[in-house]
Amino acid sequence: MIEYKELVRRAFTARKKAYAPYSDFQVGAALLCEDGRVYEGCNIENAAFGVSQCAERTALFTAVCEGERSFTAIAVVGGRREAETFELCPPCGICRQALTEFCDPDVFEVVLARTETDYQVYKLKEVFPLGFTQKDMSR
Ligand code: THU
Repeated sequence: MIEYKELVRRAFTARKKAYAPYSDFQVGAALLCEDGRVYEGCNIENAAFGVSQCAERTALFTAVCEGERSFTAIAVVGGRREAETFELCPPCGICRQALTEFCDPDVFEVVLARTETDYQVYKLKEVFPLGFTQKDMSR
């Protein structure tokens, strides 16, 4: 299983693929599957702003489309195009909900990075308590 340092490196790589001409804020994500595979994602903006998609969901949806269903962690890095240093880039609420569909909030980890070696690790439940799940629909 890869180390978070490597997962963060993949998020930095993914960030280079961002299409963010409107915000100029480029985000990369790297999603680690239980089987050890890693899927990268970047943000993809649109002239109709609401159509834009975050890096985290790009990674998640790509992985799900490839048949993956079990995930361990996601690394995220974001900053303006010309940034040389980075602050933590927490996933938006929609991405947290999207992850909640597939990830156990007690186990799944969100890795927020400033550099390849400086990152903070949170459980999904810490950053998104009380996410809406299938169970809530069957009560
Ligand atoms: N964005 C992400 O891709 N992930 C985040 O965690 C926060 C925000 C994107 C959406 C938009 O393209 C740009 O960053 C500015 O909000």
